[in-house]
Amino acid sequence: MARKKRVALSLFWRTFVLLALLLGGGIFAWVQTLRALDTEPRVVLAAQQIASLVNLSREGLRHADRIQRVALVKAMTAREAIRVAPREPADKWEPFEEDRFTGRVAGEIRSRLGPDTIVASSVNGISGLWVGFTIESDPWWLQAEAARIHPLTRGTWAMWVGIALLATVIGSVAIARLINQPLRELSFAASRIRGGEYDSRLDENTLTSEIREVNMGFNRMARELAKVEEDRAVMLAGISHDLRTPLARLRLEAEMSVTDEEAKRNMAADIDQLDAIIDKFMDYARPGETHLKPVMLARLIDKEAAAFRDPTEIQIVSKVAIDIAVMADETELGRVFGNLFENARRYGRGIDTGIALVSVTYARSGPWVIVTVRDRGPGVPPSKLSQLTTPFFRGDAARTAATGAGLGLAIVDKAMQRMGGHLELANAPEGGLVIHVRLKRAPA
Ligand SMILES: Nc1ncnc2c1ncn2[C@@H]1O[C@H](COP(=O)(O)OP(=O)(O)OP(=O)(O)O)[C@@H](O)[C@H]1O
Ligand SMILES: [Mg+2]
Repeated sequence: MARKKRVALSLFWRTFVLLALLLGGGIFAWVQTLRALDTEPRVVLAAQQIASLVNLSREGLRHADRIQRVALVKAMTAREAIRVAPREPADKWEPFEEDRFTGRVAGEIRSRLGPDTIVASSVNGISGLWVGFTIESDPWWLQAEAARIHPLTRGTWAMWVGIALLATVIGSVAIARLINQPLRELSFAASRIRGGEYDSRLDENTLTSEIREVNMGFNRMARELAKVEEDRAVMLAGISHDLRTPLARLRLEAEMSVTDEEAKRNMAADIDQLDAIIDKFMDYARPGETHLKPVMLARLIDKEAAAFRDPTEIQIVSKVAIDIAVMADETELGRVFGNLFENARRYGRGIDTGIALVSVTYARSGPWVIVTVRDRGPGVPPSKLSQLTTPFFRGDAARTAATGAGLGLAIVDKAMQRMGGHLELANAPEGGLVIHVRLKRAPA
């Protein structure tokens, strides 16, 4: 089935990207605004200063005679950062206008000193801010430092924008984590509950009130679920236990007082079935303590397989190496394979032969051992695969005469979880159910 592929972004990245875009856009807008606001006053101020310098110099020079002029020009050069020099017709100069800012400055200077004023960025190869003016038709240059009228340099802007962007990224990560962290914890706790672990203790003292309330609600729910589960287990175990005594009595009475042999056999079979169901109830409700220790896999499988002797019903071939050991509880793991073989005998018989051909293989994968049990039966409809481990779920009951409680795979699943392992069910492409049982390898 072709499914449209969608870009999967985790909540963290979604929040992060959104915040970063938002704040980054904000910074960009601010920078543009500041630049616009910053340019205008700088232009006016710079032009004003330069025009004043020119005017002052002109007035000073005009009222001095030739000798005083030379002394005055010298003094200005020595004390101030400006230079006044006579302008020669042969002087080569470059216009001051280079970009928007310098163009505005030059325009502003001209509007103050007259439209013919020359504003140059270099004269005879000496750079600076040069302004050409005249005193009684003598042309002069005034050279001021160009540095004083430049806008904030690109470097300064880049530094501040860089700092702001860095702060944005760090802030976005922090906010995204703040939102994401409790959700992740919640999802983790929920998945543990799904796995049957009800000891969820989400932080009930966290500062954010909404999250505190969610956590408190979740913890309460987990406690109640644990209680319901406990009650159910106690009830199941109680009922099952109490059924045992009358059942034993019934078996005895049937044996003694029923005379018809056929009826006696049928009753005995029914009572056996009831007994088996009660066994399942007890296994499910009261699994007992789990003690993990190294278990020799091949021996345990052979032992369980030995209970399924009748070759006209089931044939189990195990290819598990003799020296493979896994960390498991022997009783629980026995229960696991017992249930799988029993299911194969009930539901996994070949359509033509009527015999359940079961193969048990294994594979090592890192620290795990994966045991695969498969039969050659009809398998399970794909839509029902995920429900098989639900307690009391029975597949197509009408198809087989078998009468189980629907607890077998639920018991297997729980046992695998308690042993730190994993259970996976699938249909083999050639038909039949395949069960992968993953267990920790025992240290050699
Ligand atoms: N090897 C198999 N092939 C096909 N279907 C299977 C196989 N094993 C299990 N199933 C289906 O899965 C259902 C659930 O199995 P499960 O072992 O949990 O319950 P059960 O065998 O019906 O009852 P119980 O094990 O409690 O006696 C079965 O009713 C059956 O429909
Ligand atoms: Mg079963």
